[in-house]
Amino acid sequence: MSKTPVSPLLTQVSAAYFGTNCGMNYVIRLSDGRFVIIDGNWGEYDEPEKFFAVLQEQNVLENGPVVAAWFFTHPHGDHFRGFQRLMARYGDQIKVEEILFRFPKIGHPRFASMLDLFYDTIIGTHAKVITPSTGDVYTYGDATFHVLFTCEDYGDTPVPNLNDNSLVMRMELAGHRVMWTGDIAQQGSAMLVEKYQNGELACEIFQVPHHGYFGGSEDFCKAVDPEILLWPTPDYWYYTARNWHTNAWLMTSEKVRAAFIAGQNQFTLDLSKPIEAKSAYDKKVIDFDFTAKSVCDLRWGCPTGDAATEELHAMSIEFPEEGVCRLTADEGWNFCSMIQKGQTATADRYSFQIDGLLKTEADYFGLKWNDPSPVGWSAEREDQLTRLNPTPGKPFSYRLTVDKASGFAVLLEDSKEIARFEQLPEEPCDLLLVMRSGCVDLTRVLYES
Ligand SMILES: [Fe+2]
Repeated sequence: MSKTPVSPLLTQVSAAYFGTNCGMNYVIRLSDGRFVIIDGNWGEYDEPEKFFAVLQEQNVLENGPVVAAWFFTHPHGDHFRGFQRLMARYGDQIKVEEILFRFPKIGHPRFASMLDLFYDTIIGTHAKVITPSTGDVYTYGDATFHVLFTCEDYGDTPVPNLNDNSLVMRMELAGHRVMWTGDIAQQGSAMLVEKYQNGELACEIFQVPHHGYFGGSEDFCKAVDPEILLWPTPDYWYYTARNWHTNAWLMTSEKVRAAFIAGQNQFTLDLSKPIEAKSAYDKKVIDFDFTAKSVCDLRWGCPTGDAATEELHAMSIEFPEEGVCRLTADEGWNFCSMIQKGQTATADRYSFQIDGLLKTEADYFGLKWNDPSPVGWSAEREDQLTRLNPTPGKPFSYRLTVDKASGFAVLLEDSKEIARFEQLPEEPCDLLLVMRSGCVDLTRVLYES
């Protein structure tokens, strides 16, 4: 242990989010210099290197990083496989003292062989293995973990969703309360809300359940009533997921003042201080680097509330001057999802229009289609891109009309046809605005079918 206390830290380790759209990995540094880890991402690509870099950079102990406790929330590969990958490469440099998990008897067949490796890896660490139960309290250095829920609580009740077996814990450290939820879904959330009615669930920091993909429940969110959100989510999913009904309340809560998205940036919170709000979390002006956003999400940038109740099949959003939707992009390829996957599937004819102003010249500005998902996209696949060439500083208006009956799509600029495409977008697809190193103010987004 460290002779001099160090600042307790909480790091949301960024995942590659390339082969998969999920993954979760948190590193907590205690004041005595040891670590507590929650889950471990998939371990794909360079994730083990990045994970180990966090441990190395934050380590203050003479003989290398010491993990006082490693919690695994549930037996899905995006939570535990990174452990095996990390230990395979760096196990000789990391000491693990305790490993805690309670997995259900019946797991997912897809992960069976991965789980075998997981158990083998545990044996290799020589760590003490603990099977937690609800009500247990574990203390490591200055952090206390209150186990609020485990799969044991179901007894003989069937649990159709494996995610609902997630370990749920409240961590208390340096005056902060953090709710760890893993991928808990509706069945477990309902039990939590029913069982804890005396403020036990209230936490300043909330790990949004199941990456925001229909995890948790609105009632659970309300009971936690957080100020800070941790999203173990790629940014191309965050902007869609945050509007889903299980999370949407978090977007309307006045109390929420910061959201950290694992796919945007890896970040570390210094828990010895109050957590600063992040300016990006602004519901009136959307102004941040993005890689995906939906029309639904653009509603959050629109101060006029009526649009929020409209159906996507006929939507027009106009941004008043003060509510301008500003999108900025960095040097990489950046995506803004204008039409969500599947929204166009039932329409024989639809149009998509964007009006705005290119503030600064972009390296690339255009539309992308025919790709069911941004996952796995690479710059080589430029045939799916249609470049637009607005003049910087001058307002633009582009309209793309897709007509399935005629079998072609037309692109108009200021009502003049500038391109005709014989190949229609495949279904389902997202329609994405693609931008590299630029800044655009959208004044209107229109989708008609
Ligand atoms: Fe997950």
